[in-house]
Amino acid sequence: MIRIALQSKGRLNEESIGLLHEAGIGIESSRRKLLARSEDFPVEILYLRDDDIPHAVERGVADLGIVGLNEYEERRCRATIAHRLGFGKCRLSLAIPKGETYGDATYFEGKRIATSYPVILRKYLDDKGIRAEIEEIAGSVEIAPAVGLADAIFDIVSSGGTLVSNGLKEVETAMHSEAVLIATPGLAAEKRALLDQLLFRIESVERSRGKKYILMNIPSDRIPEAAAILPGVKSPTILPLAEEGWSSMHAVVDERELWGQIERLKAIGAEDILVLALEKMIL
Ligand code: PRP
Ligand code: ZN
Repeated sequence: MIRIALQSKGRLNEESIGLLHEAGIGIESSRRKLLARSEDFPVEILYLRDDDIPHAVERGVADLGIVGLNEYEERRCRATIAHRLGFGKCRLSLAIPKGETYGDATYFEGKRIATSYPVILRKYLDDKGIRAEIEEIAGSVEIAPAVGLADAIFDIVSSGGTLVSNGLKEVETAMHSEAVLIATPGLAAEKRALLDQLLFRIESVERSRGKKYILMNIPSDRIPEAAAILPGVKSPTILPLAEEGWSSMHAVVDERELWGQIERLKAIGAEDILVLALEKMIL
């Protein structure tokens, strides 16, 4: 049994549950229990506030956790990062009232900056040699300048909508963040094996992202040309059709290259082209 801490609500919650689901780990979600079990995998889900996840994993209250890299860094977490998950992307930025003129980071010299991320901000300012006052507040950071609590803010920016609706503009980015899977240092062998199994599944899901499965009928004498257009995982699969001189060809392609490849395949006589969604790629 392995216990995974997830954000109980907020931006990473749904995508974390979605990823586990794609990895074949369904979680009962009927009632909002703080501890949930999975029917499919020896896993237990512990729902926590995002701020509490790094320490819970560090101390082994949970064996694994999914949390923003920003929270991990802010808590100076000693849990290990097992995998970067690529979702929940955001940045930690400095923003000032939009009417202010801005040159460079020396603007912040002697200013008061409101944030929920004092550790990351302090390091950023120290690296630049800027002395500024940090006003630590737990939430609603973006209203601080308007109410006279601070001159500027340092906060999470994703779409930028919150800044715009509070009359602020982003002027410096200190770090880029995304969801990460973290693990208690020195997991026992049995738990380590479950983590490896989970990582294998997550990687299979990730590998299939942006990929499509394509199949078509092609005159058999054009197969070498078609194969050159479609480099598959290893090589494309070719099956003979009942009709003499024709074959069926299957391959995995990158979605971004799909339309260009289809045009070239049609030009060499490919017909009845099907493009299918690809769910998982086990290599
Ligand atoms: C963050 C941040 C901003 C908002 C920015 O809050 O504090 O309020 O997101 O996102 P946007 O650029 O897309 O508008 P979050 O929703 O993560 O809640 P929290 O600060 O309470 O954790
Ligand atoms: Zn938060």
